[in-house]
Amino acid sequence: MRHLMSPLDFSVDELDKLLDLANDIEKNPGKYAHACEGKKLATCFYEPSTRTRLSFEAAMLNLGGSVLGFSSADSSSAAKGESVSDTIRIISCYADICAMRHPKEGAPLVASQKSLIPVINAGDGGHQHPTQTLTDLLTIRSLKGRLGDLTIGLCGDLKFGRTVHSLINALIRYPGIRFVLISPEELKIPSYIREDVLVANGIPFTEVERLEDAMPELDILYMTRVQKERFFNEEDYVRLKNYYILTKAKMELAKEDMLVLHPLPRVNEISVEVDDDPRAAYFRQAQYGVYVRMALILTLLGIEVN
Ligand code: NCD
Repeated sequence: MRHLMSPLDFSVDELDKLLDLANDIEKNPGKYAHACEGKKLATCFYEPSTRTRLSFEAAMLNLGGSVLGFSSADSSSAAKGESVSDTIRIISCYADICAMRHPKEGAPLVASQKSLIPVINAGDGGHQHPTQTLTDLLTIRSLKGRLGDLTIGLCGDLKFGRTVHSLINALIRYPGIRFVLISPEELKIPSYIREDVLVANGIPFTEVERLEDAMPELDILYMTRVQKERFFNEEDYVRLKNYYILTKAKMELAKEDMLVLHPLPRVNEISVEVDDDPRAAYFRQAQYGVYVRMALILTLLGIEVN
């Protein structure tokens, strides 16, 4: 039995196969419409979510399966003090696969160790968000035609943004990747990523504070929200929340084929006037999230469709 805790749980070859499957699902949805008939997905979300939970549910429904679950810790037995280890043992009796989001780093991993069904980490605190990374990789590969030879700007909350941490981990396995890390001093990338991942693997990167300076060299600009819920005090959040705002004027500094990605939700960091720019790919990215989660569910359940 296989779980997904980190994007590195799949080899590059396995990832290629998963992304190929997602592209086939996009082209031939009818072929997969009954693939998961009789199977159930449990979504166990101890933290707010719109896209991740609903895209998992949509993915399972598109495959002909069913869904059950809870969308906040308050509405589950966590409110009574139940541990994730106990909860997953129970969920294992009710469902065939589980997607879990939790505010504590490592909670889905703990659950997976006691689980009788595959567990997918749907975001654990400020740590990892592997299915967002699968979504990001599918978006980049589908729209750019490649995952190597790219200069990627990561902008905003690089400290608490789990999507950024997972994406860096995944992209360093492709040749010719360079990062431009764009953040204020207080929200710089944690040293367990800078030193242990980037430096340790000899990946070229620069750290800058001004988005304008980075713009002209980027192939991908990955914007992120300042992660309000992970701040220790409101004052720091208020000071940093509008640090970066991507506007039409800033887009003029970018390459004509640069793509703007964002895991969403957006707050103020991308002005709505940018939405009509053909380079704005964040809504298409959310659609790719459904295809890749369909591919992931099939892969972890070991279901092949011919
Ligand atoms: C992200 C997350 O939950 O980390 N959202 C998502 O799953 N698409 C990004 C965020 O909340 O800022």
